[in-house]
Amino acid sequence: MLADLTALLGARKVRGADPDDLAPFARDESHCGAFPPAAVVLAESRADVEATLRFASERRIPVTPCGARTGKAGGSLPIRGGIALSLERMDRIIAVEPGDGMMVVEPGVITGRVMEEAERVGLFYPPDPNSWESCTIGGNVAANAGGPRALKYGVTGDYVLGLEAVLADGEVIRTGRRTLKGVAGYDLTALLVGSEGTLAVVTEITLRLVPLPKAVRAALCIFPDATAAARAVAQVLAAGILPRTLELLDDQAIAAADSRGPFRFPLGAGAAILAETDGDDPESVMAALVRLGEIAVEAGALDVLVAQGESQRRELWATRRQVSLALKALYPRKVSEDIVVPRSKIPQAIERFKAIGREHGLQVATYGHAGDGNLHTNVLFREEEERPAVDACLEALMRETLALGGTITGEHGVGLAKRAFLPWEQGPVLIDLQRRLKATFDPLGILNPGKIFPEDR
Ligand code: LAC
Ligand code: ZN
Repeated sequence: MLADLTALLGARKVRGADPDDLAPFARDESHCGAFPPAAVVLAESRADVEATLRFASERRIPVTPCGARTGKAGGSLPIRGGIALSLERMDRIIAVEPGDGMMVVEPGVITGRVMEEAERVGLFYPPDPNSWESCTIGGNVAANAGGPRALKYGVTGDYVLGLEAVLADGEVIRTGRRTLKGVAGYDLTALLVGSEGTLAVVTEITLRLVPLPKAVRAALCIFPDATAAARAVAQVLAAGILPRTLELLDDQAIAAADSRGPFRFPLGAGAAILAETDGDDPESVMAALVRLGEIAVEAGALDVLVAQGESQRRELWATRRQVSLALKALYPRKVSEDIVVPRSKIPQAIERFKAIGREHGLQVATYGHAGDGNLHTNVLFREEEERPAVDACLEALMRETLALGGTITGEHGVGLAKRAFLPWEQGPVLIDLQRRLKATFDPLGILNPGKIFPEDR
């Protein structure tokens, strides 16, 4: 296969002879393990993607598309071997059109660059997955990634107007539009967003941009425990304030973040909320933050620290953003979930998750996007022998989430990590309909096989 692929695409775009070249494509940032592909194609253009998929269709070779491999659900792991199709080199910003409020990009552009390019022309691309400095926009589209600002601004899919994509047989489609409105035909853009590379390989993305808010203020509210913090979140939202973020850190998350600096949490901090308000008028942005702080104090906050200036705000965010890595440094085998519960159920969910951890003899840390009910519940462990207890604990967490009216994944996707749980959330008719959609797009089943849907059938 390698020789033929090389003849087709050229040596610069194909790897596979040296196992060291394959190793980085065997993993992502999930706990799912390593699955080396037989070959890697480093596509540089849509034509390369078309040629690769035609080749793979002829030979029935599995193709797993990937970006920066920062995914947390195993979605881009080549679990059946075959070709890892990297879109990283397709990293051109094709057009920025401030007048039309949009940008056209290739999938390999780093998300942070999308944000910067938008800001250069006074516009805003709000979705901010925690890994925005390293993840790709194509990966965000594949997972329909979210982030802290989703509370006010929504997720990746809310900004995707149209896509160019290559089907499994190598045919090219263009879905959606370059206009703000447009309802012709089925909304296949929405179907492809979040389809985790199982339906088509996206080669161009048309994004909607919004005006850049002129003022942003942040505050860190310190609470004695996560229940008080969760209560504050509910009360802030009930008061009609819509901050752009309401990020929760529980005691474990605080301890982990604190161990790395630069920010030091005050003594007695058992939970924290990182809140940010934005808008065009600095005074009303500050007024909203002050009101939020008052509500937090009424709900039991010990202290409210308002960031003075941009550098303090950045320091708070740096602290929040390193929680995942900090926990991993302490518990190298942790499993991170991204469940969502209805907002009103957050206090109950946090208490139940801790209790479930205790029942299984495990520590459970919870942090994340509490404002929209999207919690990163992390089961922490160090020894492989604990794995059966961890699996039982995860199952109990999923069951509890669903019992609370929630969903098994809010932003990382089902991928490999959560495919066994999908039938707990969705009925057999719905799963079967999705399998038939998959077969319509990819009749040979070569595109990212084994993902999203459970294997046992
Ligand atoms: C975060 C990642 C885990 O929000 O989604 O930190
Ligand atoms: Zn997150």
